[in-house]
Amino acid sequence: MSLRSRITGTGSYAPETVLTNSDLEKKVDTSDEWITERTGIKERRIAKSSETTSDLCLEASKNALQAAGLKAWELDLIIVATMSGDMPMPSTASLLQKKLGAKNAGAFDLNAACSGFLYGLSAADNFIKGGAVKRILLVGAEVMSKFIDWKDRSTCVLFGDGAGAVTLEPSRGKRGVLSTHLYSDGSMWDFICLPGGGSQHPPSSKTIKNKMHCIKMKGNETFKVAVRTLEKLVVDTLKKNKVKPSELSMLIPHQANLRIIKATAERLDLPMSKVAVNLHRYGNTSSASIPLALDEVVRAGRIKKDDYILLEAFGAGLTWASALIRW
Ligand code: UT7
Repeated sequence: MSLRSRITGTGSYAPETVLTNSDLEKKVDTSDEWITERTGIKERRIAKSSETTSDLCLEASKNALQAAGLKAWELDLIIVATMSGDMPMPSTASLLQKKLGAKNAGAFDLNAACSGFLYGLSAADNFIKGGAVKRILLVGAEVMSKFIDWKDRSTCVLFGDGAGAVTLEPSRGKRGVLSTHLYSDGSMWDFICLPGGGSQHPPSSKTIKNKMHCIKMKGNETFKVAVRTLEKLVVDTLKKNKVKPSELSMLIPHQANLRIIKATAERLDLPMSKVAVNLHRYGNTSSASIPLALDEVVRAGRIKKDDYILLEAFGAGLTWASALIRW
């Protein structure tokens, strides 16, 4: 029987502070009606000024390890998918390794923006199938709120902070990660970017003045590519595995926009009762959105053994990715 990786535990964490649409009405020229209609978002969580991405990772990871019945020292590898890490160097995964006391684990970060968790899942799956490592902690975590221009209504209403974690272990049989699919098109890099702070525009008074350390997004252009790309992606992923849409138990999409999620579900003729949606409470948490939603449906008992679960994401890069799992 073929060797697969299987998710053996899930966990999540979001900061306590809630920022509602009506709170935002007081900060910028927007309305609850506009945000709800165009995105589906009602509120998002915001980290305290002292709270870092690795702090959020730690809480989500403790929950996932407990669910899996694993101790931190049993981990062989920690992967953190993030684009808002504690600092450019060292990796947030290294800081998490220390906080967890995961003394036997290697650690690295991975940045594929909102597709980061699924890029991480693909990497973890291949590490396990290769036989080199056995127990992996994969975390998607973001403190987006610290990279937002709170005067830019086109982005500040969209994003939120959070973390989701899974443990992956080897498994023989038909359950586990069945396939992962990764894609990118860097020609549209400027659709969503955070241009300052890297080697192209190192930090300077100019980058600060021009708000280059904040996210910029061409929302409408991104929206159109996302809908078209995700509709094809979900169909192709099921075809590759010879699974019919009617056999799918749950779609767990990246939580960027309810209209995008509905269009993807419609393409598969999937009722919304089979779609995990939590963006009304968290907004777009980028690489954290899929593991946050996954943990919620697992803990609510909405996924059963042997169910087919489809995960899909789209984000900066541009990048997009999917995974089919037999639970
Ligand atoms: O997670 C990574 C991937 N990200 C995505 O997939 C996001 C994709 N994009 C989207 O979700 C949507 O494009 C947005 C929610 C960002 C924007 O929705 P839209 O329907 O594409 O609106 P728009 O950008 O075309 O803007 C429509 C109008 C504009 O006004 P005019 O030019 O028509 O007068 C904007 O200035 O809405 C205005 N607008 C706002 N109005 C009130 C933009 N932001 C706001 C706001 N409140 N917060």
